[in-house]
Amino acid sequence: MNKSFFITTPIYYVNGDPHVGTAYTTIACDTLARYKKIMGYDVYFLTGTDEHGQKVEETAREKGRSPIEWCDIMVPRFKAMWKLLNIDYDDFIRTTEERHIKSVQKIMNLVWERGDIYLGEYEGKYCVSCETFVPENQIVNDDCCPSCGKKLRLIKEESYFFRMSKYQDRLLQYIDEHPDFILPRSKRNEVIQFVKQGLQDLSISRNTFTWGIPITFAPGHITYVWFDALVNYITAVGYENNPEMFQKYWTTGQHCNMVGKDIIRFHAIIWPCILFAAGEEPPTSVIAHGWWTSEGDKMSKSKGNVVDPYEETMIYGVDAFRYYMLREVQFGNDGDYSTDSIITRFNAELSNDLGNLLNRSLGMYHKYFDGVITESHTTEPIEDEIYGLWEECLKEYEENMDIAQFSKALESIWRFIGRLNKYIDETTPWVLAKDASKKERLAKVMNTLVNALYKIALAIYPFMPETGQKIRNQLGFTSDIKGDRIENIKGWELLSTGHKLGNPEPIFPRLDREAVKKLKKAKNFDPDLEIENAIDIEDFKKVSFRVVEILEAGPVEGSNKLLKFKVNFGDHVRQIVSGIAKYYPNPAELVGKKVLAVANLKVVKLKGELSQGMFLCTEDKKNGIRLIEAGSDIELDAFIS
Ligand code: MSP
Repeated sequence: MNKSFFITTPIYYVNGDPHVGTAYTTIACDTLARYKKIMGYDVYFLTGTDEHGQKVEETAREKGRSPIEWCDIMVPRFKAMWKLLNIDYDDFIRTTEERHIKSVQKIMNLVWERGDIYLGEYEGKYCVSCETFVPENQIVNDDCCPSCGKKLRLIKEESYFFRMSKYQDRLLQYIDEHPDFILPRSKRNEVIQFVKQGLQDLSISRNTFTWGIPITFAPGHITYVWFDALVNYITAVGYENNPEMFQKYWTTGQHCNMVGKDIIRFHAIIWPCILFAAGEEPPTSVIAHGWWTSEGDKMSKSKGNVVDPYEETMIYGVDAFRYYMLREVQFGNDGDYSTDSIITRFNAELSNDLGNLLNRSLGMYHKYFDGVITESHTTEPIEDEIYGLWEECLKEYEENMDIAQFSKALESIWRFIGRLNKYIDETTPWVLAKDASKKERLAKVMNTLVNALYKIALAIYPFMPETGQKIRNQLGFTSDIKGDRIENIKGWELLSTGHKLGNPEPIFPRLDREAVKKLKKAKNFDPDLEIENAIDIEDFKKVSFRVVEILEAGPVEGSNKLLKFKVNFGDHVRQIVSGIAKYYPNPAELVGKKVLAVANLKVVKLKGELSQGMFLCTEDKKNGIRLIEAGSDIELDAFIS
């Protein structure tokens, strides 16, 4: 196998905006892609959008758009989210692109020519939300989908079938011979059991709607959206038009499909069978993750508890969000997203463990050696122990990253970070610094720390790209960490004598729990909100608001602040004096405008002029004071409430 690594996210349906679930898969892929790059692999990272099918067609219709118009609106929203989350993909595929349509038609024709597609009739239940056919024995709760719980539709139509049953034994053998085909390994049995129950042939065409890829050998039929979608993975690496690329990333390289547990069967069963039928290799691995709940509850728009990645990154920063998602849950298991736990991890692991280690180490290096790397020779057993521990932690890290066990990989790095913090307490550099004869010993301790930080920066970079770079910058390096490789961080003299360290700056300033909660409340509806100086409705009713029309506007003699107005109250005319001259240098422009006024203020005299009411205004930094206007068609006796 060559040293190439092709990694894919599922392609996302464009019926809604990206959310924490789609962000999770994409962050996990980005982390794995960045990791493989630093391991020296030639990486190709693909994401994209799944644009055909009934679900997207119906959403577009609800929004009053054609399907392609709707897709064109949604695609930039996905791209913007991935940019925000620092997702460094190589290609973004859309299933409506020509290259993909050709690729689907090619594989479809091939499987047809090989005799693995036949015409039949599908009669049964279909879930539009999951875009899946649901066999009778899996239907739950009176006609509902076992996966999403939504109501099923009965469909009866002529359909082409893929002879999937034929590949059952071959698939079982493949799974058996490739222990890492389904990751985490705990998901493997689930798939084996399912296949052993017996694979049925799969309906792969629809003819009762048109938003899909036409089947060339079957006019009037379009490709079933999952068949279409799965093929995206090979389209993007040149199945149809670039044999060299296809050879490199698919036939001979490692190629992994990352998915959520809900779609593992499509990827670990249907997808390899399609590839077998087309004479191609199945994916090297299908990596499945669990689902997130929010504060202990299933996320749903109606409950208002959907975690919004945009909002979360505004509060914690992109790196802390990425870190939390991959650290909180063992990859493959379900997890719960909670404000309490993200704050706890932020403060304990990022701010305390990592942030303090960096800050203390750099601070002391500056204090004792002006931040200039100083030669040191003799190591003591404690350094040998630290060096040994790094080797051990790095090995664990790599073993876990290779099987997408992100949280365990991070645990190993944090075990090392914890040991380093203890190392500082044990070696007490501040005591060594007081004794001139211990200068070299002090330099050794400090060098161990900055070298360790140099290594840690690269190990955590796939998870937290900006943080890895920041640590390197603070260590006095300006090169892009993205181009670094694990093999370059061997040894303990990575910072050469005379090198000048940068200045320490806090990378994760501690979060105040109450302040974060207040911020979150500010963005959400708060049932316990306390309103200052509240009045009751009877107080409000005492004020008489009116829509009035300005008949005349002009200066007040002897004042450069005031303007006086003749104002039509509908059944009578009043004079109002207002201190808005500065904001309306040309008062005549106000004549004819309808504005809001308070009608029952006590009459006052300003600069000798009567004022029989008061205009309502807004005042802000950008515009200064502006009269609040009522629409020109609002009547003067309108009731204001
Ligand atoms: N279009 C198909 C995939 C086709 S791939 C050939 C699809 N799209 S999707 O937009 O529904 O994508 C869903 C991805 O987001 C899945 O991997 C799914 O598991 C993940 N998640 C959606 N909600 C989730 C959570 N609450 N938690 C974690 N992941 C979840 O399926």
